[in-house]
Amino acid sequence: VSEPVRYSRVDDIGLITIDNPPVNALGVAVRRGLLECLQTGLEDDAARALVLIGAGRTFPAGADIREFDQQPQSPSLPDVVAGLEASGKLLIAAIHGTALGGGMEITLGCDYRIAAPDARMGLPEVNLGLLPGAGGTQRLPRLAGVRPALDIAVNGRPVGVSRLQDMGVVDRVATQDLQADALAYARELAAADAPRRPLGELAPAAPDEAAFDEFEQLVARKKRGYEAPAVIIEAVRTATQTAFADGMVRERELFVERRNSAQAAAQRYIFFAERKAGKMPDIPADASARDIRTAAVIGAGTMGTGIAITLADAGLPVTLLEQDSEALARGRDKLERHYRGQVDKQRMNAATADQRLASITPTTDYVALADVDLVIEAVFEDMDVKREVFAQLDRHCRADAILGTNTSTLDVGAIAEQTQRPENVVGLHFFSPAHIMRLVEIVRASATGDVAMKTAAALVKRIGKIGVPVGVCYGFVGNRILHKRQAQAVNLVTAGATPEQVDRVLYEFGMPMGPLAMWDMAGLDISYKAREHVRAHDPSNAPPRNWVDEVVEAGRLGQKTDGGVFDYDGRKPVPSPATAQHIESFRARQGITPRDIDDAEVRERCLYVMVNEACRILDEGIAARPSDIDVVWINGYGFPRYRGGPMHWADRVGLADILERIRHFHDTTGDPDWAPAPLLERLVAEGRQLGDLN
Ligand SMILES: NC(=O)c1ccc[n+]([C@@H]2O[C@H](COP(=O)([O-])OP(=O)(O)OC[C@H]3O[C@@H](n4cnc5c(N)ncnc54)[C@H](O)[C@@H]3O)[C@@H](O)[C@H]2O)c1
Repeated sequence: VSEPVRYSRVDDIGLITIDNPPVNALGVAVRRGLLECLQTGLEDDAARALVLIGAGRTFPAGADIREFDQQPQSPSLPDVVAGLEASGKLLIAAIHGTALGGGMEITLGCDYRIAAPDARMGLPEVNLGLLPGAGGTQRLPRLAGVRPALDIAVNGRPVGVSRLQDMGVVDRVATQDLQADALAYARELAAADAPRRPLGELAPAAPDEAAFDEFEQLVARKKRGYEAPAVIIEAVRTATQTAFADGMVRERELFVERRNSAQAAAQRYIFFAERKAGKMPDIPADASARDIRTAAVIGAGTMGTGIAITLADAGLPVTLLEQDSEALARGRDKLERHYRGQVDKQRMNAATADQRLASITPTTDYVALADVDLVIEAVFEDMDVKREVFAQLDRHCRADAILGTNTSTLDVGAIAEQTQRPENVVGLHFFSPAHIMRLVEIVRASATGDVAMKTAAALVKRIGKIGVPVGVCYGFVGNRILHKRQAQAVNLVTAGATPEQVDRVLYEFGMPMGPLAMWDMAGLDISYKAREHVRAHDPSNAPPRNWVDEVVEAGRLGQKTDGGVFDYDGRKPVPSPATAQHIESFRARQGITPRDIDDAEVRERCLYVMVNEACRILDEGIAARPSDIDVVWINGYGFPRYRGGPMHWADRVGLADILERIRHFHDTTGDPDWAPAPLLERLVAEGRQLGDLN
């Protein structure tokens, strides 16, 4: 076995190389090796200075996350950094790739830092519900000042070399080969008798109240509900108040507390869940994805333009097809407005925007699709329209082209049957706005082939999104669960809650908006039409009339008509007297006397109904594993990441308690949505958790 860290000498400079592919994660063997090689270097009389570098594609990109759930093994990372800092020789970090978390903290234990021009550094611990735990919160403010330290540790985003130079974190940028440049730099420093620079010996950092205020406000606004960001601010504040040794003690206490917290466990869980989501256990490993070099989008409406932008931004040439030149012009306008906005907001330079726009070719002629590798259809949600489109696609596209549909509610299998190649037809259910939302449900119809699934999954990954394979059913995974929750929100109000109360409870739980405000945003008319359709065509399954039907019939369709369930003050929902009237008269006609409903009942009914439906979805094999459902709800609907998703959260609450309440609601309401899911009953009977099925 090769050693994960090795020592060598190049003339008069000692070289410590971390070689632990793929990303030089700082597992226990690396930590041990670092201290051993440091010792060797210190004892090597021929070495005037030491350089620390990573082999392969990056300087250490962080801790080994798998060790978080195990007993800590020594040496700890703080001990390693302290060892580096106490080195009796000049120590120079040579950084390339992404020095993240512990990787960045190690560089702060060195005296000087040289970086490749495209290197990046960061402290992303916050994204896992943690804080930097190896001195990052104490050394970085001392080196760079409070504001840059907060910026890096609270936002958790890596920053590039020029900013790192401005902050004084990077001393020099390599111009040729990083290792050669680092060795030369070490020689130069040694020759000049450059001083050692242990950050741990510096006085506390200068306080910066304005920066602390600003970040406290930012956290309250943008990281509502997350515990770690405020803890990071506290740790950085400590670095301005106490001696280094005391600050390190405090950082360790806070770190251990975070590491053991429910939020960190949830965020770690979902981190792995997202990586596992694309894995399809039922597809043989030898099924390979087809290469996608060109794509087409059918329909330039809300979704089609968003999808075209996403594809173009990933570097794929896109052909955008509409039914006539007017609709095409409207689509073009939308694309132009989007890219102009990107330039105005300085997210993109004008040349890039022009190039992206130019990579989207509008057309009304299917002949232009003769040679595309993949098509995504996003026309009206109407089976006859989709049928016609797929018949055209079948006629004009190459036989091996993958044909995707963005339908939300139609049967992907029935759409596939319109073609001679149902094995190449797959659902690609994007969420709105498609260029922003990360989730795509990849829908497998019974005829969809392994290659189409693999190709779709590879494409979704390539465009920077998270794909979750799902089976065919009404609403797939996400919307099917959503519909159950929305029904509870409506029923709670019918029974006596106010729309404001329902929305407040879910908002306080951590959802980005309440269920009813969300409905106003999407438009109440869409689901109204769907209910009316069932009422007209399938009376035995007809949903009972509810007060939302009356709100819609009064012309209140949501935000687009300046009012739906709520009135709007700008974009802010406010209680609507008109809606209150509809609710009251609806109750009166139904003979319902409103009762007081406490917040706990709102919370239980809106969330436990989701857990129950999710269990049915799992039993039916519509989702492959509970963690996929968590990935869907976190990335498609804003379920709070720090709760790990509805399945992880349900395990925390306790499935037995949840089942008991589900039975209670079933007994008291008779609502079939509350019939306990068999899977939930089995798990409770066996004393198991949903997490056991992942
Ligand atoms: N809007 C959402 O939130 C959302 C989310 C997920 C999925 N979807 C699904 O995406 C699809 C499109 O929805 P949308 O909201 O973008 O609708 P939209 O009405 O905004 O756009 C549909 C576009 O399709 C075009 N079109 C209609 N018939 C056509 C044909 N025969 N050939 C070419 N173009 C044609 C229309 O001109 C229009 O521009 C639907 O299947 C919908 O269910 C929508």
